[in-house]
Amino acid sequence: MQSFEIIVKTYFGFEDVLAQELEQLGATNIEKLKRAVSCEVNKEQFYACNYWLRTGLFVLKPIAKFEANNEDELYDEIQKIDWSEYIDNDSTFAINSTAFSDKFTHSKYVALKMKDAIVDQFRKKTGDRPSINVEDPDLMLEIHVANNQFTVSLNSSGESLAKRGYRTQQTKAPLSEALAAGIIIMTGWNGETDFLDPMCGSGTFPIEAAMIAGNRAPGRFRTFNFENWNDFDPTLWRKVKQDAKEQEKQIKCGIYGKDKNQRAVRVSEDNVQRAGLSQVIEIERKNFLNTRWNADSGLIIMNPPYGERLEDAEEMVDFYAEIGTHLKHYYPGCEAWIFSGNLEALKFIGLRPTRRIKLFNGQLECKLHKFELFQGKKSELKG
Ligand SMILES: C[S@@+](CC[C@H](N)C(=O)[O-])C[C@H]1O[C@@H](n2cnc3c(N)ncnc32)[C@H](O)[C@@H]1O
Repeated sequence: MQSFEIIVKTYFGFEDVLAQELEQLGATNIEKLKRAVSCEVNKEQFYACNYWLRTGLFVLKPIAKFEANNEDELYDEIQKIDWSEYIDNDSTFAINSTAFSDKFTHSKYVALKMKDAIVDQFRKKTGDRPSINVEDPDLMLEIHVANNQFTVSLNSSGESLAKRGYRTQQTKAPLSEALAAGIIIMTGWNGETDFLDPMCGSGTFPIEAAMIAGNRAPGRFRTFNFENWNDFDPTLWRKVKQDAKEQEKQIKCGIYGKDKNQRAVRVSEDNVQRAGLSQVIEIERKNFLNTRWNADSGLIIMNPPYGERLEDAEEMVDFYAEIGTHLKHYYPGCEAWIFSGNLEALKFIGLRPTRRIKLFNGQLECKLHKFELFQGKKSELKG
């Protein structure tokens, strides 16, 4: 099978994890970029990337790279591409654009110019043109410019791969599924020990953990834009999905999600059910500060509230201090990872982090801190 280049986008800080995922899928010439990884794959691996990547957001297939110094040159270069290879007058398309350039400062304008060049090509040849549909287009296109260097790609994923499809309901401030999965992979957890998210909100961490432990493909609940492409190979696609089924593993550890909020518990239960994991994940209504861990090991990942208003600041500092004390006394032997956008409150956990990782939740800078909770030792308490 012939190989070709793809560019997979990801979040800040996940380039290493994504590169490792791509390597596992058999990709070659892997190169880490800023919030993206490029590599080479064959068609089967290309489908598998969409189906399997946990930290990828969009799998892009470049179809043209060129230099353009003004909008006329851009228009001419876009017209050099034979668009009838990809769409016809009955198809719909959409263009997403990103611009890092002094010459092309408005990314929306770049997209507009590209759209004009595409529809003009069809009009000239056929007297008719394909239409734009931003909601659910047959073909999703990407144009990226850095200085005067352009890359035009097909977005094979369509909607972000972070949107797995099991979470139709959510509580306030849910984490992106890809972010949650990436955090779990960063901890090195592999399903050998029990997993707990004591503040699970809509259940994202427990669900992603179960998918990792059971080696279940995150793309199993959704469709992808490449399924509309002219060169779509349904037999190969069926093979990728069948192979994935055969690679599923039995989940041997306990996976728990808790939250003090009744609605969060209900939403988590619904999402767990939609993900087909009701037999695996236990959801319970509990205030973390009234719980304890009865095993001698386990992984805890929590994403406590950040506190939205300025008035919450002091309350949050106290709450984070309580979380730290509670972990220390009632969760000995565990490894706890706390992910938060409240960087000030995080300092008051009162335990010494053994790892600190900078990440983002949307635009908000966050930190992921690791704490190792040893039984009976006072040394991990600060000061
Ligand atoms: C930022 S949200 C978690 C979002 C979650 N990671 C998701 O993806 O949906 C914080 C959650 O902590 C819960 N929470 C706050 N204080 C708690 C406590 N003392 N015990 C248990 N849950 C708590 C809230 O009800 C809320 O659902």
